[in-house]
Amino acid sequence: MTTERSLEERALDHLWIHESPRSELVDHDMLRVFDRGEGPWLWDTRGDRYFDLCSSMWQTPLGHGRGDITSAMAEQARRVATAGPIFFTTRGAVELAERLAASAPGDMQHSFLTSSGSEATETAIRLARQYHRMRGDHHRYKFISRYGSYHGAGGGGLAMSGRRHRDSVYYPLMPGGVHVMPPTGVSDLQYAEQIRDTIELEGPETVAAVIGEPVAITEFRIPDETYWPRVREICDEYGVLLIIDETLVGCCRSGRMWGIEHWNVVPDVMVVAKALSGGYAPVAAMIVREHVFAAFGHDTGSPSVQSYGGHGATAAAAARAMEIYMDERMDRVAESLGAELFGMLSEVTDLPIVGDMRRFGLWIGIELVNPVTGESYATGIRGKFEVAKEISRRLLRVGCAAARMSEGILHVAPPYVSTSDDLKFVTEAVFTVLDQLSDKLSRG
Ligand SMILES: Cc1ncc(COP(=O)(O)O)c(C=O)c1O
Repeated sequence: MTTERSLEERALDHLWIHESPRSELVDHDMLRVFDRGEGPWLWDTRGDRYFDLCSSMWQTPLGHGRGDITSAMAEQARRVATAGPIFFTTRGAVELAERLAASAPGDMQHSFLTSSGSEATETAIRLARQYHRMRGDHHRYKFISRYGSYHGAGGGGLAMSGRRHRDSVYYPLMPGGVHVMPPTGVSDLQYAEQIRDTIELEGPETVAAVIGEPVAITEFRIPDETYWPRVREICDEYGVLLIIDETLVGCCRSGRMWGIEHWNVVPDVMVVAKALSGGYAPVAAMIVREHVFAAFGHDTGSPSVQSYGGHGATAAAAARAMEIYMDERMDRVAESLGAELFGMLSEVTDLPIVGDMRRFGLWIGIELVNPVTGESYATGIRGKFEVAKEISRRLLRVGCAAARMSEGILHVAPPYVSTSDDLKFVTEAVFTVLDQLSDKLSRG
């Protein structure tokens, strides 16, 4: 007699799940096949319900099961799914580029569309090198980024990412990746000046760009008000491009449409991904300022071509999502939900395992410490990675599907369509998990 194999078993047979080893999926029973979603909730094939604690991996802030986005995508696919990207395009791509131009800071008016954040950062790398060459600067090939950062899975993205402990298995990486320490949230001018010193020491004529996320994610540090304005000045002083990677914080997560707006800084290049389509289609963008676009002049094309870059149906999904972010003022919604959740979560700060709690819009990072010694577990920048696994496992047991992001920080980044009752559920789940973990770790 043959018994029907479950989707989970079939997944284990043939689907190579990203990043998690089989020990995590099988021994710790972490694999779930999600079958249905509605707003911030997901149901798996076992019939269990989970709250989408980190909006998948920061890409589903508008919630699951939205007919408005799927209709826009289906309509574009039905009329014409896509068009060869060298001469041709579609209505969806044009509308997405228009909305990005209308919402991006300063004179960022031109978007190059890709299918993922990784492809967008790779494009930004090629763009920066080509930009300098076209201006007669032939030796600028280095990129300064921060330790602990992640900028994508391509060859260039890995070289810019500051995760030597994880990426050394792929050595040698693309040459030109240079790293500095990330800002910490206090007295950050010194970290901006470190970038200046690094440009001087590397040779200004060799540096193409500085790239960073608005916040330093690994330890969830939000730079103080001096950091980005000073980095902008330094880049201008040395003719270095400033690339801001909005992959995680863009599309209203921070309480503003773009995270960098908190510092009133206009980058030269911006990378937008993840939430751009609300998670309904793989689409991302590299957006550039007029002076960068103008450097390519009348006779030079874009940096490379990608068959699915600007794909009509995915762009139509993103155009609709952008309309929702802008017209429904999701920046304000995220800020107000973030403030509400931060207030509710204050009850966890009394637990001995909680060292600090920080907020950036509707993104709260709870920093965990050893309940006995008080030493911080937020050591992801140095490659330690154990407590994070334990947290994801425990969260799943209490009905929260959470991304595993960084060591010693419990990230809470729910969808913007969460209700107060949902936030109450989240607060209780987080309290339960941290209370249990605190207990366990206190016992050694
Ligand atoms: C800051 C940042 N940049 C780039 C990427 C790569 O994006 P994707 O996974 O869409 O390729 C990520 C992915 O997590 C990211 O967090």
